[in-house]
Amino acid sequence: MFKPVLIVATVLGAGLTGLTQESTPPVSDAPSQMGVPVQASSQVNPVKPTTESVAAAKKTYGYDCAMCHGETGDGKGDTAVDMKLPMKDLRDPETLKGMTDGQIYSVIVNGKGKMPPEGDRAKPDRVWNLVVYMRSFSDPKVLPVDKPGKTR
Ligand code: HEC
Repeated sequence: MFKPVLIVATVLGAGLTGLTQESTPPVSDAPSQMGVPVQASSQVNPVKPTTESVAAAKKTYGYDCAMCHGETGDGKGDTAVDMKLPMKDLRDPETLKGMTDGQIYSVIVNGKGKMPPEGDRAKPDRVWNLVVYMRSFSDPKVLPVDKPGKTR
């Protein structure tokens, strides 16, 4: 009576190389949980900013960023001053010159040093628009020029 069960158990046991605690069978398919690194750093801004989308990003900036980076991007927000954070002046073209859009995106989402991550508080679309807004402090030309009236 017992025999077949024992054989199966033995085979399984051998297969699991003794890890009898593991109840999950060895997975031979579906390598679906390979890490999905958000490798955004080489990514080019995939959104086409509009005056509205950048205005929305500006609002987010006002809530989440200006306390450190300053309304004008000068890095003299109250929190930054209070915490004596090492802020760069975003009005200086040199500040973001060496960073790709994707790298800026990553810093916003993941944070950096004393900067807290935005995480998923802002949707990707909004973050990309923030990237544009960040660049606009030193170069207003990056801002979209579509007319609010939208006559086409
Ligand atoms: C608590 C203060 C703080 C807040 C809030 C904050 N940052 Fe920062 N941010 C920093 C600091 C400090 C650095 C420099 C980090 C480093 O290089 O170690 C930084 C760096 C950056 C950089 C890289 C370029 C640079 O100036 O060094 C970008 C881009 C940036 N922040 C964007 C944002 C955006 C967008 C937000 C809002 C979503 C934001 N930050 C919110 C403090 C802050």
